[in-house]
Amino acid sequence: AAVEFAPAVVVGSGYGGAVAALRLGRAGIRTLVLEMGRLWNTPGPDGKVFCSTLSPDRRSMWFRTRTEAPLATFLWLDVVNRDISPYPGVLDRVHFDAMSVYVGRGVGGGSLVNGGMAVTPRPDYFAEQFPAVDVDEMYGTYFPRARAMLGVNSVDPDWFESTEWYRFTRTSRQAAANAGLKTAFVPNVYDFGYMEKEAAGTAARSALAGEVIYGNNHGKRSLDKTYLAAALGTGNVTVHTQERVRSVSRAADGTYVLTADLVDDTGAVTGTRQYGCTYLFLAGGSLGTSELLVRARDTGTLPDLNAEVGAGWGPNGNTMLGRANHVWDTVGANQATMPVMGIDDWSNAGNPVFAEIAPLPMGFEHWVSLYLAITKNPERAAFTYDTAAGAVRLGWTAEQSAVSVGMARKLFDRINAANATIYRYDLFGTPSKVFADDFTYHPLGGCVLGRATDDYGRVKGYSRLYVTDGSLVPGNIGVNPFVTITALAERTMARVLAEDTAP
Ligand code: FDA
Repeated sequence: AAVEFAPAVVVGSGYGGAVAALRLGRAGIRTLVLEMGRLWNTPGPDGKVFCSTLSPDRRSMWFRTRTEAPLATFLWLDVVNRDISPYPGVLDRVHFDAMSVYVGRGVGGGSLVNGGMAVTPRPDYFAEQFPAVDVDEMYGTYFPRARAMLGVNSVDPDWFESTEWYRFTRTSRQAAANAGLKTAFVPNVYDFGYMEKEAAGTAARSALAGEVIYGNNHGKRSLDKTYLAAALGTGNVTVHTQERVRSVSRAADGTYVLTADLVDDTGAVTGTRQYGCTYLFLAGGSLGTSELLVRARDTGTLPDLNAEVGAGWGPNGNTMLGRANHVWDTVGANQATMPVMGIDDWSNAGNPVFAEIAPLPMGFEHWVSLYLAITKNPERAAFTYDTAAGAVRLGWTAEQSAVSVGMARKLFDRINAANATIYRYDLFGTPSKVFADDFTYHPLGGCVLGRATDDYGRVKGYSRLYVTDGSLVPGNIGVNPFVTITALAERTMARVLAEDTAP
């Protein structure tokens, strides 16, 4: 088959891919972005690009016959999920043996489905996780650059205190305060000016209409509206959609060769395409990049990749849970989907946890306080290649999740004790499952900075091969990760464009 050549290829269009595409395009380098998901810009029969969370259709999930929402049940009833027809929907849940991982699919990757929380990690913990990175340069240059490009903003504190849409957050803040715990506002990429108009009834509702995990029709500054729009604006960047890169190898002249499957709307592979490039940027996310590199090493197409490829994976200590409030502590029938506050107990050396106060917008008063706890779980796992199945496996175990649960339980036992409240037992399927410990929103690692790559994301063993996504982060960053991923990608691109691409 004919090989289509581009000077630079970027695999994936999430945070790492979007930064790479923009910086390459601005440097005048012709760049091709390959993305397995769709471009989300065409309205469906209902006039909307994305379907609603409460009545999901085929647009919701990646080739499924039934949705797989994080909260499976309410009062143990299977009321949340719906039968759908297979389609390249925007949210995927990838199942490994003891852990499943939610990821976004489409031009913009995770930015299409996430909660928009744009949190910069604590410098001391960042330094602990990235000992070889210059912290002053990160916090002086790359974090500010990332936040500016991502369009990070904050909820107006006066509006927050008065609006019905954040009653659920204020109720959780009070419960934390009763236990002597600190809470902090967290910024977001959702446009809060727009949200106030939604509340006033002068703009179409999105965050105030329950939209988030299956995409936001308005208000969200996802990557297709920020980095990727700017990348396309350079005139040097092209995006191919519904092309899934399957393998990577290197030709005798040192260029890279990629094989991509063309995936149609039914999920059928209708053909393959081959691409060649001088510079290859892997940005398929922790799962996508790890899978490509582990397969390349273990099938011998890139045999010089080192043993660190696939290692250092963690779920950012994610544990979800719900508490039942007293009948007088209401959370409100109306809840904004964009979280704006977290319980910050990270400096508790005995049990560091940062717990996001999460919405549960069901359209009626349910007295549930929901949380996504990020715990400092030190456990890590590795991806390995299963030759017989031709698939990549993840070695994470239920015992490793139990470490996160133990830390989340310590914090929330305190909150329950101070408020005389209990956990909710009906939200996560299995009878009496209190802690959702079998899924994560924050897959991190698999190609860790300084181990599988040099200190700038250059893959060891090869030249002109780079990683720019969440697989660089060693399993845990203590806060929601996309600001860190974006800032590290900015740092990599600045270095690579200064040192590697000169003629
Ligand atoms: P990302 O996953 O964004 O992008 C990878 C892209 O590559 C995808 O579009 C994928 O389809 C594509 N791809 C993969 N393999 C490929 C292949 N072989 N060929 C072609 N394309 C391929 N974080 C945060 O900071 N704040 C928050 O509020 C939230 N909330 C949240 C909610 C939910 C529901 C989810 C699922 C996730 C979050 N996150 C989050 C996490 C955040 O979205 C995540 O950390 C980043 O999207 C990761 O960015 P990456 O660039 O690493 O990959």
